[in-house]
Amino acid sequence: MKHIDIKNIFTDKNYIGQNVTVCGWMRTARNSKTMAFIALNDGTTLNHLQIVIDKSTDIEYEDALHLGTSLKVVGKLVEDQHGSVEINAEEIIVLGECPAEYPLQKKRHTLEFLRTMPHLRGRTNTFNAVLRVRSVMAEAIHQYFQDRNFVYVNTPLITGSDCEGAGEMFQVTTIGYSNEYKNEEEYYSDDFFGRRAGLSVSGQLEGEVAAMAMGKIYTFGPSFRAENSNTPKHLAEFWHVEPEIAFAELPDIIEEAESMVKYVIRTVLDTCKEEMKFFDAHFEKGLIDRLEELISHEFGVCDYTEAIRLLQESGEKFQYPVEWGCDLQTEHERYISEKVFKKAVFVTNYPKAIKSFYMKQNPDGKTVAAVDLLVPGVGEIIGGSEREANYDKLVGEMESRGMNLDLYSDYLDLRKFGSVPHGGFGLGFERLIMYVTGVSNIRDVILYPRTVGSIR
Ligand code: 4AD
Repeated sequence: MKHIDIKNIFTDKNYIGQNVTVCGWMRTARNSKTMAFIALNDGTTLNHLQIVIDKSTDIEYEDALHLGTSLKVVGKLVEDQHGSVEINAEEIIVLGECPAEYPLQKKRHTLEFLRTMPHLRGRTNTFNAVLRVRSVMAEAIHQYFQDRNFVYVNTPLITGSDCEGAGEMFQVTTIGYSNEYKNEEEYYSDDFFGRRAGLSVSGQLEGEVAAMAMGKIYTFGPSFRAENSNTPKHLAEFWHVEPEIAFAELPDIIEEAESMVKYVIRTVLDTCKEEMKFFDAHFEKGLIDRLEELISHEFGVCDYTEAIRLLQESGEKFQYPVEWGCDLQTEHERYISEKVFKKAVFVTNYPKAIKSFYMKQNPDGKTVAAVDLLVPGVGEIIGGSEREANYDKLVGEMESRGMNLDLYSDYLDLRKFGSVPHGGFGLGFERLIMYVTGVSNIRDVILYPRTVGSIR
């Protein structure tokens, strides 16, 4: 169907005075004695295009005035009184009628209500803006890494090893459990892969394989976590950006993470001006200033042990007690970034016991070279580390955790054959979108959220 994107109608002055064809959904209509006006949106921009109907002509327009109706409009593009453009309609074709029970009425709906209709909510201004910002951010992430010699690799989604070791893997199976099997081993050997398999929680282990050949790689794809966390920042299926860098130590990883986050935010601020104004007006007053401020300063860096001291001396009443060795909860992460540093902050060198097996062991014997990036309003958006590159140390740690070394033989081989200092991080893509848009629930920054007890 030949037509012009409404975004281009607004940006390309050459169309003024021309006869053009546009398509879209009717967002609002006004009907006066002699004229009718339709605001049309096709999803290419937040702005609606005004269609002007002169009732003295023989244009058929009545069926087009129902909210949600999809239309094709032909007419002359002219400048309006406010320096924008509108179409003087010559023909209006109803592509799809929309009856009165259309759930998206003119009033502003709550995000909770919109969650009940993921198939329609994209037609609201909020989701129109979220999805476009999301798309620009994805492009920016690729651009950032491609410009810096990182190779984009696609790691497997079905895996036999649990990267984070937290027991949060969804199982992949073609047979249901049956009493006929004597034990788990027999059951799994009968299954599709001949052993237990699951959906990957992270592409890191395979990402390391690629980085040990290509030097610098990144993955960008879904990760799956069967976490029973019904919170505003957890999804069972989220998009994960995971760079892995050879010949790098913890400070290099931190530098890369800061530089990438700043690049993505700068790109969104420059490319999505309308959308960001919308979020600033409707979701978080001062959002644009906050982001400008964030990217114009160096992020903070704070040792975990120091963070614990700051929390203990804060005088704050936290729901979860704070002591050396505890994992930081969202309330602690937010306190550190919002109250103490008042900006994004990297927390480093966490206790070994609360982090994954693969992290580089620090000389103190108690901590590992881990790093989390905490941002005001959201908490953790990035988790990463330098990796343990020493074969004996890594095996020792895995054995002490009771891990089955046979499942990780490829991974261990990397430490046998030309091992190098290396590391990387994982960015929760939706968490960064929340931070950039001010949208406070992760369910509202993805087309179809998957959360515990909810799939559609
Ligand atoms: O801290 P995590 O668990 O680290 C890893 O998976 C490492 N293998 C990454 C690496 O070093 N390559 O997860 C990384 C990030 C978190 O900081 C968070 O932003 C996001 O992934 N994340 C989630 N986002 C949404 N829903 C969930 N359930 C998430 N779990 C982690």
